Amino acid sequence: MPVLGIESSAHTLGIGIVDNGLILANEKRMYKIGNAGILPMRAAALHTKNLHATLGRALKNAGIGIRDIEAVGYTKGPGLGPCLEVGMLAARSLAQRYGIPIFHVNHAVAHIEITSHMCKARDPLVLYVSGGNSQILAIVDEPRKHYHVYGETFDIGVGNMLDNFARDAGFKRAWGSEVASAAQGGNYISMPYTVKGMDFAFAGLMTNAVKMLNNHALKDVAYSLQETAFSMLCEATERALLLTGKHTLIVCGGVAQSARLQEMLSMVAASHKVRFGVAPNEFNADNGAMIALVAERLLLSGAKHRLEDCSVNQKYRVDKVVLEWK
Ligand code: FE2
Repeated sequence: MPVLGIESSAHTLGIGIVDNGLILANEKRMYKIGNAGILPMRAAALHTKNLHATLGRALKNAGIGIRDIEAVGYTKGPGLGPCLEVGMLAARSLAQRYGIPIFHVNHAVAHIEITSHMCKARDPLVLYVSGGNSQILAIVDEPRKHYHVYGETFDIGVGNMLDNFARDAGFKRAWGSEVASAAQGGNYISMPYTVKGMDFAFAGLMTNAVKMLNNHALKDVAYSLQETAFSMLCEATERALLLTGKHTLIVCGGVAQSARLQEMLSMVAASHKVRFGVAPNEFNADNGAMIALVAERLLLSGAKHRLEDCSVNQKYRVDKVVLEWK
């Protein structure tokens, strides 16, 4: 029962195909982020241009034809409006053209679901860290099964904070991975540290780090920024682990690709005898397979999403999603 998933919430157009939880294809094309960040209209135009060829490659890799697809899912949000609309319109067109069910999927839920699937984590505490989001989540039953947000950022996501710092520091590629490279061999300088219970804030930390570039070595600032931000995430996550009593901790989303963050979280988990899981980088970066996986779960659960409800929602919060397949 192959199910197609289309992800287009930001810089990546991803098309994945999943069959019975098995990932048959996971194709993607990325908009190159320059110093201006993501220009939504340009990214959307590129996604539109790449759509047909990316779909063709996904089908070829899966060894199936378009008529073999049993259902289609797409990212409803959160994300950039023009980019989300490309995936939504493509999914609606496929659903109508081939008479197959369509499912709208929350981007954060999809990140969590694919990581839980790959790490065989049934009921984990989740640290979801991406460009626009940083949240600590776990499933609760009331009133219906959904992810409860135990902690989150008061201002910007940790990924955007690292990207913005990279841009202000003049990096050619303004990504968190470049900050990690610049941090090699750095020494720690004290920086603002803001954790309130299980919530955290990154904007002040970033402003401070940019100012520090005037009178400190780049490697020291990059190292200290990364260590401080990740320590804040670890402290809040540890508090949530103790509160919820969960036996598994997973990290997902774009920033979960950070080897240093993985290392720090695995130490937190080990100190509480909790299992730690993270998916391969391919699935922490935005991808279509995670959308296909959730769409397949919805299909198998008997859920039905009406075509007229298949819109986009730029601010679609993870805690608004009823987990119909759980
Ligand atoms: Fe993402």
